[in-house]
Amino acid sequence: MEQRAIVTGGTGGIGLETALGLAARGFAVTVVGRDAERGARAVERIAAVAAGGEPRFVAANLASLGDVRALATRLAAGGPLKVLVNNVGAMFAQRQQTVDGIEASFAVNHLSPYLLTELLLDRLRAGAPSRIVNVTSGAVKLAKRTFDTVEPPGGYYGFHWYGRAKLANLAYTLDLAARLRDSGITVFAADPGGAATAMTNGTMTSPSIVSPPLRLLWPLVRRTFERSTAGPASVAARPSVVAATDPALEGRTGLVIGPKAHPVPAFRASTDPRTVADVLRLSRQLAPRTDAD
Ligand SMILES: NC(=O)c1ccc[n+]([C@@H]2O[C@H](COP(=O)([O-])OP(=O)(O)OC[C@H]3O[C@@H](n4cnc5c(N)ncnc54)[C@H](OP(=O)(O)O)[C@@H]3O)[C@@H](O)[C@H]2O)c1
Repeated sequence: MEQRAIVTGGTGGIGLETALGLAARGFAVTVVGRDAERGARAVERIAAVAAGGEPRFVAANLASLGDVRALATRLAAGGPLKVLVNNVGAMFAQRQQTVDGIEASFAVNHLSPYLLTELLLDRLRAGAPSRIVNVTSGAVKLAKRTFDTVEPPGGYYGFHWYGRAKLANLAYTLDLAARLRDSGITVFAADPGGAATAMTNGTMTSPSIVSPPLRLLWPLVRRTFERSTAGPASVAARPSVVAATDPALEGRTGLVIGPKAHPVPAFRASTDPRTVADVLRLSRQLAPRTDAD
């Protein structure tokens, strides 16, 4: 039987490299993105290395919860799942709202992967042993740690709001791992470190993405950003590929796979009980699994 894997944001950057890695290891990979042409090009590249089933592209805008639901329905119809890599992520230089009226950093980096995961749990159970990999970021360390509302108090600073959404997702990831213990589904966070991709090339050049105190140090901050995002996406994809496939991780769950593709300690704030409770409440309220929830 086909070993199915899904990679969101899998048509470019780190996600495409992750998809190539999974396909070379025998998975039938479905990549998700918005642009059909980019999707077709990705499928061609993946097919050239695929050692298992046929690669596919499914279009969805993961900034829309309606699209996430439709995507989940379509993916679920394909049968059991072995691997779900929630790789999609985005940083926005200016504050934006999604079609659902939700601040876009929180929607794309947390709510969308949260909802897709919840809606595909049955298929992952059917494919067990199976793995969920949620892509995190070092930006969690510069995040505001209040989650009683979608938007933190204070001004909009793209990098910090991105980091806060990633922190929400990391808290969800580690809690999910604990909840799914003994279910046959194991759950990992993968920190790619950094890479030169559409996301980093497009948004990390303006001081407006960081808070005023950091802006005073902008030349230093910018150099740090440049250094940490200079590498190739193929290297940054290794933590995700290892988290999704490494046999050494069998029987283990709730680990963060760091930029060197080894387990690293989880950022402490991600296991704070209040953070976890607030993130779960907010997620269930904004992105219920069903209308009845
Ligand atoms: N690059 C880094 O230095 C870095 C560092 C730490 C963490 N990360 C994390 O690593 C992951 C991958 O990042 P990346 O740098 O590879 O990003 P990227 O190059 O910007 O990602 C591009 C991929 O995401 C898709 N995508 C973007 N927005 C989408 C949306 N709304 N709906 C559906 N698909 C969407 C793109 O396809 P379409 O445009 O066709 O939709 C493409 O497949 C993210 O979670 C990011 O937060 C990256």
